[in-house]
Formats: sequence, C-alpha cells, structure tokens
Amino acid sequence: MSDFLIAPSILSADFARLGEEVDKVLEAGADIVHFDVMDNHYVPNLTIGPMVCEALRKHGVTAPIDVHLMVKPVDSMIDMFAQAGASYISFHPEASEHVDRSLQLIIDAGCKPGLVFNPATPLHYLDHVMDKLHHILIMSVNPGFGGQQFLPTTYDKLRQVKQRVAQSGRNIRVEIDGGVKVDNIRSVAEAGADMFVAGSAIFNQPDYKTVIDQMRAELAQVNA
Ligand code: DX5
Ligand code: ZN
Repeated sequence: MSDFLIAPSILSADFARLGEEVDKVLEAGADIVHFDVMDNHYVPNLTIGPMVCEALRKHGVTAPIDVHLMVKPVDSMIDMFAQAGASYISFHPEASEHVDRSLQLIIDAGCKPGLVFNPATPLHYLDHVMDKLHHILIMSVNPGFGGQQFLPTTYDKLRQVKQRVAQSGRNIRVEIDGGVKVDNIRSVAEAGADMFVAGSAIFNQPDYKTVIDQMRAELAQVNA
C-alpha cells in the first residue's frame, strides 16, 4: 500500500550533523521528518525548538516537518513553529487548557493539526474535535525518550481510534509513535495506524535505506 507514511524521528539522529542526517534519511525513502519538542516540564527531557526547525528549512529540507510538541503551555509555540516552517503540529490535550483553541491556532497558522494520546490518556478528548483534526497521534511509549519498548495495550487503542475515524467519515491519519520496528510495523498497521514514527529503529542502524525498505516490505503485506 502506498498510503503508508514513514516518519523517522530525528530524536535518535546525530545532532552534531543534523542537516546531513535528515538529507540521508529522506534519500533513503522516508516521507516525513518527525520533530520531537520536549521542555523538561511536560516531559522529563529537553530537546530542540523552532530555531532548529528553521535551520532545517534553510538547509534545504522540503519534506513535511511533523512537529510533536511535548510542551506545556502549548499555544505560544504554535506560531513560532509555523513561522519556522512546520507542516504538521500536534500537542497533548493535558498540556493545553483549551484544546479546541489550540487546534484552531494551528489551523489559523496554516499548519495541519494533530492531537496526541499518551498510553493512559483516554480517547474521549476526541469527542468534539474530529472536524478539526488532520491526524491523531497514539503514543505507544510514555513520551520523553527514544528507544523504549512498544506497549502492547496500544493495539486495542489503535483499533478504537480507527473505528472512531471510520465513524466520523473523515480522512484523518492515525500516527503511531514509540517502539516501532521492522518486526512490529505490520501488526501496528493492521491495528489501524497509517503513519509510522520510528527513531532508534532507523537511526541506530548503519544503513537507513535497508531499514526503511524492510518496513515497506512489511507494510506491503498488510491485510487491512
Ligand atoms: C518519544 C518521542 C518519539 C521517539 C520515538 O517521546 O515522541 O518520537 O523519538 O523513538 P523510538 O522510535 O526509538 O521509540
Ligand atoms: Zn514523537
């Protein structure tokens, strides 16, 4: 299926050579650049901000940049990332006082909005915002670090999300983030995901193309 999108998380890239790393992973066949923003407040780690996003655009990256905000508060970051060249912007509902307002700010800034669900975050946050969403990001690990194990309870949650999307009749992407690897990407897709974040599985290997090709080969066997 060509409708599956692979979004390497640059959290596991070599930050000393970030531009080259992003070029390399895109040349290797990635569709999207997943950009993890952590604030040492909403999550216990600190990463990169809008200046780094802008630097990647200036470096010549034209692929969509998928900004995953793990910050609290959320709203002040939205315009900064939109101006820095973000394509998609997602945030965690617990980190925003006014979820609908934050989604609308993302739309008004010209980006595509997503809502992110931690492993223990209930899906009821979707109840009244489906009309605003471009994607739903399901975390299959607790946010903050790369290289964690995929939590198996995620499969059931993905099926529930897929059902909600189908009921809405809308074309909303279901993104999965955390512990995605060659050996589970197919079952994750069969449970309902169509956009796959993978950090350590790709960047910890010497040849990114080999991993991405293996992921696509697995996805080609999906029974939807
Ligand atoms: C975790 C981040 C992920 C992380 C995934 O908080 O949101 O994007 O980089 O890394 P892996 O694929 O190594 O689990
Ligand atoms: Zn992420």
